[in-house]
Amino acid sequence: MTNIIQWNCRGLKINLLELTLLVQSFLPIAFCLQETHLKESDNVSLKGYNMYSTFSKVDERAAGGSSIFVKDNVIHSTVQLTTDLQAVAIRLSLDKTITLCSIYIPPNSIIDKAKLKNLTDQLPSPFILMGDFNAHNPLWGSKTHNAKGKIIEDFVSQEGLCIFNDGSNTYLHPGNGSYSSIDITICDPSLLLDYSWRVHDDLCGSDHFPIVLEHLFNSAQQRVPRWKLDKADWSLFENLCRSGTSVKDV
Ligand SMILES: *[C@@H]1O[C@H](CO)[C@@H](O)[C@H](O)[C@H]1NC(C)=O
Ligand SMILES: *[C@@H]1O[C@H](CO)[C@@H](O)[C@H](O)[C@H]1NC(C)=O
Ligand SMILES: *[C@@H]1O[C@H](CO)[C@@H](O)[C@H](O)[C@H]1NC(C)=O
Repeated sequence: MTNIIQWNCRGLKINLLELTLLVQSFLPIAFCLQETHLKESDNVSLKGYNMYSTFSKVDERAAGGSSIFVKDNVIHSTVQLTTDLQAVAIRLSLDKTITLCSIYIPPNSIIDKAKLKNLTDQLPSPFILMGDFNAHNPLWGSKTHNAKGKIIEDFVSQEGLCIFNDGSNTYLHPGNGSYSSIDITICDPSLLLDYSWRVHDDLCGSDHFPIVLEHLFNSAQQRVPRWKLDKADWSLFENLCRSGTSVKDV
């Protein structure tokens, strides 16, 4: 099972226990987290994972931020990014070598296509760009459009990228209880059929649902079938052979 979890966790420290529960349920090889609200001096760790973060603050208070956690038995390396976006990227050696990028785009920030292209040009291909874009567009399940939603739609179509989202809601507005879809998973077309995409049924303490990307062809590709010769009952087999009884009749 190779799962990758994307989640706006709305504070990593307060939801660290939830993260350990997600580890138990899904055994993810990586997490891409947004709104981690970490300071560089924070000492946060998750057993069995390496952590890579970008930090951000508003009025000297930690706010926003993105992190990637990678299971420590997965060969990986960091991708150095030159960007003012809250993004962090890691290259992972799985059945294919892929780049994961976790991004947080705050509601009031301005993005443009050039800035997004500047970021994705720095990501070794093929990549999965996952995060909270605060972008609304019916293309990925929102009821309305906003400016960010239009920019991302244009960007994805101009760059020939794909979107995993199936239209499910990813966010529950805590103030008025309305659902929307603002967390997006964008990928290179060569990765679209490799994973299934689904929204977890529990907010896990955040106002966004975790999203689980599950690798599809894993078990079939990696396991060569083999007979369990040491588990066979050879004396029974021998007796059956001698008596001419078929195994079906036993
Ligand atoms: C960070 O936490 C780890 C484990 O809880 C501890 O071993 C380490 O000393 C801490 N480091 C700092 C700088 O506080
Ligand atoms: C990408 O953006 C960074 C920071 O905003 C800038 O320093 C760099 O020159 C840009 N790269 C390109 C190719 O435009
Ligand atoms: C809930 O509040 C958000 C943010 O103020 C707003 O965009 C959205 O339209 C509201 N939804 C409903 C159903 O009132």
